[in-house]
Amino acid sequence: MNPNAYACQTPAIIRHPIGVFDSGVGGLSILKALRAELPFEDFVYLADSGFAPYGERNEDFVVARARAITHHLLHGLPQPIKALVIACNTATAAAIHLLRQDHPHLPIIGVEPALKPAVAASQTHFIGVMATRGTLNSRKFQALLESMAGQAHFVCQPCDGLADAIERDDTTTTIALCADYIRAIGQFGINSGQIDSLVLGCTHYPFASDCLTQLLGPDIHLISNGEPVARQTRRVLKHLANKAGTGSITLLSTGNSSALTQAAQRWLGLDQLAMRLRACY
Ligand code: DGL
Repeated sequence: MNPNAYACQTPAIIRHPIGVFDSGVGGLSILKALRAELPFEDFVYLADSGFAPYGERNEDFVVARARAITHHLLHGLPQPIKALVIACNTATAAAIHLLRQDHPHLPIIGVEPALKPAVAASQTHFIGVMATRGTLNSRKFQALLESMAGQAHFVCQPCDGLADAIERDDTTTTIALCADYIRAIGQFGINSGQIDSLVLGCTHYPFASDCLTQLLGPDIHLISNGEPVARQTRRVLKHLANKAGTGSITLLSTGNSSALTQAAQRWLGLDQLAMRLRACY
């Protein structure tokens, strides 16, 4: 990834949108932080809802989807994207290195479970990690975990079905699964030996924050990665930053478009949405 390579090109690219994708609505939690950090950038958000969830699929499937989506964002829009944010932990773990190989001149920013910020926040050094099975099983996550050895005790919980329940806005299932997984992780609290911080290692999970806070109480830190990813995107875009854009958002979905529109209105407070629907195979 070399943003300087882009700086030498025509300045017109500065006005091109930033592409953001996830398996569904989860990446809106990242888009929210991106909009706050980069208010003059235009964004194209692609929810791959027709192929969600990713978290319990095999790696080849997720890689194929990430490649198809990136191709679409580069070749299927009126303007190609100037940078890509993979707003999905599962897709980042499976595919970011391959997408960077495929597109060496495209700045690509990914997300990963926020273990380092959790270590900084935790007093007890016992930390829970909720993520998809795909993320937790990935080589990338295992390497991250190894790099943190000795800094804290991490309890990692695969949360099958939770992203899907959030995606379907199924509150009853979301609450039941959160309760089950919290119980499975262990004893939460602020005393020695208790888990005082919980990493939300899937971009869907911040949308269950209210439910998790009700279950855990206000003392437990919920750690997600929207803001650090947005700051990293601003750093990477240095020479490509758009200082005069309108901050527009275009939503694309490969599945249920009304679910995406409703989620964007609810989570981003957007009333007016430019909406284009494309299949992306
Ligand atoms: N939101 C995604 C993540 O951060 C994927 C959820 C899923 O599709 O299982 O991992």
